[in-house]
Amino acid sequence: MPKTYKIAVLPGDGTGPEVVVEGLKVLDAAAKKFGFATERTSFDWGGDRYLETGNVLPDDAGETLKQFDSVFLGAIGHPDVKPGILEKGILLKLRFELDQYINLRPVKLYPGVETPLAGKTPEDIDYVVVRENTGGIYTGVGGKTMEGTENEVAVQSMVYNHMQVERCIRFAFEQAVKRNSKENPWRGLNEQDIADGKIGQLTLCGKTNVLTFVFSLWERVFYEVAEDFPQIKTDYCHVDATCMWMVKNPEWFDVIVTCNIFGDIITDLGAMTQGGMGIAAGGNINPKGVSMFEPIGGSAPKYTGMGVINPLAAVGAAAMMLDFLGESEATKAIEKSIAFVTSQKLESMAAGRMGYSSSEVGDLIVENL
Ligand code: IPM
Ligand code: MN
Repeated sequence: MPKTYKIAVLPGDGTGPEVVVEGLKVLDAAAKKFGFATERTSFDWGGDRYLETGNVLPDDAGETLKQFDSVFLGAIGHPDVKPGILEKGILLKLRFELDQYINLRPVKLYPGVETPLAGKTPEDIDYVVVRENTGGIYTGVGGKTMEGTENEVAVQSMVYNHMQVERCIRFAFEQAVKRNSKENPWRGLNEQDIADGKIGQLTLCGKTNVLTFVFSLWERVFYEVAEDFPQIKTDYCHVDATCMWMVKNPEWFDVIVTCNIFGDIITDLGAMTQGGMGIAAGGNINPKGVSMFEPIGGSAPKYTGMGVINPLAAVGAAAMMLDFLGESEATKAIEKSIAFVTSQKLESMAAGRMGYSSSEVGDLIVENL
């Protein structure tokens, strides 16, 4: 019996289902080639179901998903549903219920993909952002009063405890170890770093000059945990400067760790520098539980049903999922195939301008696997 992974599939809204089909096509091809199997169950959670039933998510959705090895998500967001309902009711709720406290977002420029950063190559744009995914401003601590008057007060707090910060930062250091080795250290290290035994770098992205309570906690924990990872060089950047360097000198980054809201913002910037939402993948990770992998681009409703959306972000998300399931050879093969297809085949990463349909792009990945 081959190893069988139970995957919950949430195609979701808009173009979600179309890209999910391509991701699963590649998953099946990888399973065949690398000798594992998947058993999949699809759930119709999303905008259409909400409009029909008035119910965003079944009460036991979290419990249901805990029965699976992993979750593969298309996209959440429907043009006929008020913004916030589905995002909070499905995506954020599942992140919280499954305690997916990491959002892992690689910023990787594949060969042949156009970046808006002049003169930068795939060598320069290759790092990962570890975004804290269940705390901070997203916890919903706050309130309002005297709404509609000129005295209206609104508060939304950035809330972190030591444990949340610690586990996130530790995961980020582990990523820096995972991405690098003594034989193949991160390209940004200098001779002195190498002599000191460093193999990679972790940058804390914060705002210690203004958010003095929260980021003093992050900063202290960062240097505490760093003691367990002497082979990783540490660096610090304020979030505004991080944005600057992500554009001007992306080669300065190996792994970045940051809080939930900063991570949300800088990873959209990162996605643009790697060729846009058509190619950016991410994982909502619970290292000891059930993780959920997704293309981060959203549901792109105006392209629904046209077969023109770029499925590579979903394919990349499937590849990430396999890495977390322990099929890292399959992950490498899919990433290699993506690199071949972006460099040799696609005309553009943009919807409708790839030179192929969504399904043909999926086929190209499978053929070159
Ligand atoms: C993301 C999205 C979500 C977030 C929204 C849809 C709630 O922007 O995954 O980055 O803010 O986390
Ligand atoms: Mn976002």
